[in-house]
Formats: sequence, structure tokens, C-alpha cells
Amino acid sequence: MSSSRLAGKRLILAVTGSIAAYKAVGLLRLLTQQGAEVQVVMTESSTRFVAPLTFEVLSGSPVTCDLFSSHQDMKHLSLPEQADLMLVAPCTANTLAKLALGLADNVLGTMALTLQCPMVICPAMDGEMWLHPTVQAHAKTLKDRGATIVEPEKGELASGQWGHGRLATEENILATLQGILQPRRDWRGERVLISAGPTQEPIDPVRFLSNGSSGKMGYAMAEAVAARGAEVVLVSGPTHLVCPQDVTRVAVVTADEMLQALTARFDWATTLIMAAAVGDFRAQKPYSHKMKKEQWNGDALPLERTPDILLALSAQRTHQRMIGFAAETEDLIEHGQIKLQRKQLDMLIANQVGGEHSAFGNDSNEVIVLTSNAAPYPIPRAPKRHLAETLLDCIKNLSTSSKSQHSVPSSTT
Ligand SMILES: Cc1cc2nc3c(=O)[nH]c(=O)nc-3n(C[C@H](O)[C@H](O)[C@H](O)COP(=O)(O)O)c2cc1C
Repeated sequence: MSSSRLAGKRLILAVTGSIAAYKAVGLLRLLTQQGAEVQVVMTESSTRFVAPLTFEVLSGSPVTCDLFSSHQDMKHLSLPEQADLMLVAPCTANTLAKLALGLADNVLGTMALTLQCPMVICPAMDGEMWLHPTVQAHAKTLKDRGATIVEPEKGELASGQWGHGRLATEENILATLQGILQPRRDWRGERVLISAGPTQEPIDPVRFLSNGSSGKMGYAMAEAVAARGAEVVLVSGPTHLVCPQDVTRVAVVTADEMLQALTARFDWATTLIMAAAVGDFRAQKPYSHKMKKEQWNGDALPLERTPDILLALSAQRTHQRMIGFAAETEDLIEHGQIKLQRKQLDMLIANQVGGEHSAFGNDSNEVIVLTSNAAPYPIPRAPKRHLAETLLDCIKNLSTSSKSQHSVPSSTT
């Protein structure tokens, strides 16, 4: 058993009011022995089973039980922000339902809604309860939303009866945590070219045409794929974002510059991820000096199309996987399918822009993944960094048939 995967990791251990709450004490010991830094959160019911003092002494940190007494240091926000993983063990039927519904009437529920890291849920309850359709539906909802459910085991329950509801063993829970926290290097050997951010097309030396893209999605993809072992070049339009670790950034401003930068590295790449929001139009003749407002006689500004980068690269494609993004305000799937076909992409990630939940600028996003040989695959709203991991899994799983459609002999791939 390796201790290194949990060493230095910041975990939240959330304990709820199950008879199995005493087992969370053993779990806490195990996690701290593995080198993890554990902050314990308890529901009010769970404090009827085990005193917070036990967890406080064993974790070496105060236990957070009450939302309103933890408000001074805003632990309900700061803990989930800093955590590497949240473990709910044992999880009652009640808390499972609350998590599935997004209820935030205690510290645990509030934290779950601001969590930026994986959540592992270990239900423990009477066998009849676990198999109840409502409980199963809640577990499925949470699973679909990306949580990991460590299924309860069959065995003797607290009631003395035999059933399917006993908290998973420490070994199983630990193995799950190690699997999740293990740095995945499944993109090692890949060379990934990513575009991100907006482009700016000058009108005159101080004005330009652009869009509201923040670059966050492309940067999240670059950070995630570099962490998973790929060599990454990020061709970025103007943003305020910091270049992620182990990523080479090439700064560009206009669509022409982005096309040049991507073309120059396209042969090198095994995968192109085009997350930039490239402007579609530019001024036909940008002014060489600042246009004075008094000089403007009301004439429209003549525009022309910028180069279609994906189409241009698609024509030069040899061995690369090509992934595009489509920002649409309506008919997401229909417009996305057209773009997927027209630009001969392996995958198109369609997201909504405009409105309250616009993909532009937000830290979270929800998307629909389109490929030519599978049904549209919606990915629910998640922080962009999490979404990036899921999208990388989807790209890795692209069927070989879709890849080979566009491939030259395999020696080049
Ligand atoms: C002795 C006792 C044992 C209980 N064990 C469990 C259990 O193992 N699983 C469960 O889902 N609920 C169990 N409950 C019921 C929960 O404590 C109850 O639903 C409570 O509201 C859960 O609150 P919480 O989810 O906020 O911790 C038990 C209750 C009692 C009195």
C-alpha cells in the first residue's frame, strides 16, 4: 500500500448520522497515517453518535459542525476551495438525498455546492433503505454528476440482520481515494496544440473588434492535459490568465496571427484542440492612426471575413485528432453538427453563449459533445477545470474508426 498518493493531500471527511459513524474514526486515522491533511465536517445527527472531540483530537484541527458558528472564517467556502477531495463517509440516506437535490441547510450541503474537487460518497444504511428506488435514484444522480459512489457491502448490519448496506471497508475506500488522487499520465507521448481566448481585429491603433471569451476553458484544457503528461503548446489570444505549469504559450492577437502560429506547429501536434473564440470579421481597411470621432461621417465600417482556421488546418491534416468548440446562442446541437461535418472534426464541443449561464467568462460550463458516430453526449455544469478532465477522457476514447477516417498511414501517428 503506497502512502505517497495521499501524502500532503487536503481532504474533507464529512461524517453523517449513521450507526457506522464510529467507523469514520478509523478512517480518519488511516488517512492521516497516509500523510493526508484531514478537516472533519459533521452533521448535527452524527454528533449524537460520535463526539466531535474525538475527530478534533485525531485530526489536529477543529471540527466544523455548525454553518452559523463557522461563518467568521467562512469555512463552508474556504475548505471546499482548498480541498483535493471530499469524502462523505458514512453517508446516510438523508444526506444522499440532500446532496442529490443540492440542499444547503447544513455545512456539508453548503460545501458540496462550492466544491472544486472530486467527491467520494460512501453510503451506509439498512439494506432495505439502500435498495429503495428513491435512494438508488439519488445515488445515480450524484454518479451522473461526477461523484464517485463507493457501494455499501453485503453483510451483517447494525440491526443484526443480513443486508446490503454496510459501509464499504477501509481498504475499498482507501483504494478508491488512491485511484482518484493518483496523477494520471494517460496523455504521455501526445503533443497537444491548443488555442484559447479571443482574437482582436484592429479598427485603428486603439480600437478593435473582439468578443467576450476569457480563455478559461482553453487554459483549463492546457493545464489538465499537461498534468496528464502531454507536451502542450497553447496559442493564446489576449487574456489576463497565467500560463499553466509545463505549458508553452505563444501569444497572438489577430485571427491571422493565430492561424500562422497554429499552422507552424500543426505537423508537430498529435491533437489540436481549438478552444479559441476566433473573431469572424475584421475591418477591411484598419485606419493607420486613431480615427477622431469628429471625422466620422456616419459611414458604416466595411468588414470582411477572417480566415477560417479550422477549415484551413483541416485541409492540411495528416494524422492529427481535431477537436473544435462551437459557441452558439441557439440550436446548439444542430449548428454544432453542421460545424462538425463541414470542418471534418473528430469531435465538436458545443456550448451556449449569451445569457446568464454563458460559457464566456464563467468559471463553470456545461457542454454537449458531438461526434459523427455517437449520440450527442451532454456533460452537466461543472468547474471548467473538472470539465477539462472529462473532455480529455472523451477525446482519449474517440473511436479509432473516426480517427482513421482522416489518417494517413499509421507510421505517422
Ligand atoms: C440508532 C440510529 C442509527 C441510524 N443509522 C442510520 C444509518 O446507518 N444510515 C442512515 O441512512 N440513517 C441512519 N439513521 C437515521 C439518521 O440518523 C437520520 O436520517 C438523520 O436525519 C440523518 O441526518 P444527517 O444525514 O444530517 O446526518 C439512524 C438513526 C438512528 C437513531
